[in-house]
Amino acid sequence: MEDRLTALSSRSPVLYHFLILVIAFYKATCPSGAQLSFGFYSVACPSAEFTVRNTVRTASSRDPTIPGKLLRLVFHDCFVEGCDASVLLQGNGTERSDPANGSLDGYSVIDSAKRVLEFFCPETVSCADIVALAARDAVEFAGGPAVQIPTGRRDGKVSSASNVRPNIIDTSFTINEMTKLFSSKGLSLDDLVILSGAHTIGRAHCSAFSDRFKEDSKGKLTLIDASLDGTYAEELMKQCPAQPNPSTTVNTDPETSSLFDNQYYKNLMSKKGLFQSDSVLFSDDRTRELAENFANDQFSFFNSWSRSFVKLTNIGVKTGDEGEIRVSCSSLNA
Ligand code: HEM
Repeated sequence: MEDRLTALSSRSPVLYHFLILVIAFYKATCPSGAQLSFGFYSVACPSAEFTVRNTVRTASSRDPTIPGKLLRLVFHDCFVEGCDASVLLQGNGTERSDPANGSLDGYSVIDSAKRVLEFFCPETVSCADIVALAARDAVEFAGGPAVQIPTGRRDGKVSSASNVRPNIIDTSFTINEMTKLFSSKGLSLDDLVILSGAHTIGRAHCSAFSDRFKEDSKGKLTLIDASLDGTYAEELMKQCPAQPNPSTTVNTDPETSSLFDNQYYKNLMSKKGLFQSDSVLFSDDRTRELAENFANDQFSFFNSWSRSFVKLTNIGVKTGDEGEIRVSCSSLNA
């Protein structure tokens, strides 16, 4: 490239200087060299987005728990090492092997989409893009907004279990701790309120909210968290007694668990936030107003969701010649 430019400088100095200016401008505005773009696969693999969509649609119609699983998967992917499918890699010591990711699921849907894409467009569509597109489509199939997201993510080559805990939020976190972690990913306090709205769909294991109850000497649970509605707490204790089956799950939204709507925020107002980290969004002065706004205005929630979801799926992306395009999503290329 440099040789050609030098040759051009003597043959056509005007064109040479014009090109130097264009390159300088490009480098100044795009320091990492490459960026995500809309329709990234429109030439190399025009069926990419359709294939993911179709796979998510089929899987979700067979199993209504799929949308929740896919949506949580992208959150855990993007917060650890960026949105680079590092969460999909199998093996000792990978993110996926960490107990904090033990209840993640939906991997088989990503693998199915990848199999079809490898057949039609070998080594072209990244697993990282499939994870982001699948979560986007899952929300839409559950009744949420249709969101346009840019693509062109590349798959990471690093996946370490030790990176999971420092980057994933626990339900016991204070709002300041959550804000700090979100801000380290370029997300605001508003994004925290908006993206927590994901809990309008999906399910949670009893252990995820057992800190809100205490077991007495007779093995009976009592509520120890005043920010939870008494009747709702009773229902939860029925579904999750003192020694629950470890695989038992409850709806994260007790009212409309398979619908992506603004019910999550209505639940917060009526003290039915499942996790302590949900309830706190309504009890804290800094976040209550926005949560109330969403409870009263689904359109406003959907608009905000679309923006925050794009921010979430842009975290720490690898582009250009970084990373690789995996052939199988669960293992690095040979
Ligand atoms: C902000 C702090 C957050 C905390 C503390 C948190 C915590 C949790 C926990 C403990 C579960 C239950 C997992 C289980 O027991 O299987 C859960 C479920 C879920 N989370 Fe979050 N989460 C947070 C934010 C998010 C975000 C930002 C998203 C996506 C944008 C998300 C999406 C989901 C979904 C969809 C489920 C249901 C999963 C399923 O149905 O399998 N969460 N979350």
